[in-house]
Amino acid sequence: MRRGLFITFEGLDGSGKTTQINRLAAWLKKHGHRTLLTRQPGGTATGDRIRALLLDSRSKELAPLCEMALMFADRAQAIAQIIKPALAAGKIVLCDRFTDSTEAYQGGGRELGSETVLELHRLVCSNLQPDLTLLLLPSLEPSLARARKRNKRTASSKKRSGDENRFEQEETEFFRRIRQQYLKIAAREPARVVLIEGDHTIKAVHDQIVVAVSERLAKLDVGHGHH
Ligand code: TYD
Repeated sequence: MRRGLFITFEGLDGSGKTTQINRLAAWLKKHGHRTLLTRQPGGTATGDRIRALLLDSRSKELAPLCEMALMFADRAQAIAQIIKPALAAGKIVLCDRFTDSTEAYQGGGRELGSETVLELHRLVCSNLQPDLTLLLLPSLEPSLARARKRNKRTASSKKRSGDENRFEQEETEFFRRIRQQYLKIAAREPARVVLIEGDHTIKAVHDQIVVAVSERLAKLDVGHGHH
């Protein structure tokens, strides 16, 4: 059976990833491609419950290995329930974060190391690899400021139901390690990872993404004849 195309978006909190993934989804739909948009953690009913556990700043006692295991539990569910079926149906799957996030945040940020993460990925995710990963790495301080501001806004309205601030409350050093790990991944896997580094306009980043995606579409010849 023809396989679709699996595209992931990666980057630090506040990197503009979500804006770009939505733009790309709109572009793909406009060009007649059947597209599935999802995110991690979350994207399934089970995953949304795991997400709440992971991101709520009230989950103070989470051990790093527990955090990593929950990320993979969420991912295993998403792969089984939505990603694999969509790819098998020939769709283009856009996923906001995937295992590179775990390697960067838990492997680098929490200093659990890449090997543990990659080994779990082999065991829990059958080593499913994206066809293309768009890694957005604008300068650190402004993106963190954006993420923290955004979360302050949502936190004040969600005091009782929980927030999504647990990661944004980490100190800048944590995010510096994450950024370094992302750069290592990009250097290790240049064929898969397209690195968009530095500060550009939303349109300039979108244009670069469209170029990278169009190349992959042409190569794999997906999207033709199934609108
Ligand atoms: P999210 O609201 O999706 O952040 P953003 O919109 O900035 O992408 O929250 C996801 C958070 O979870 C983010 O801080 C990164 C973190 N995360 C990990 O630490 N490891 C992972 O494997 C994944 C998928 C996310």
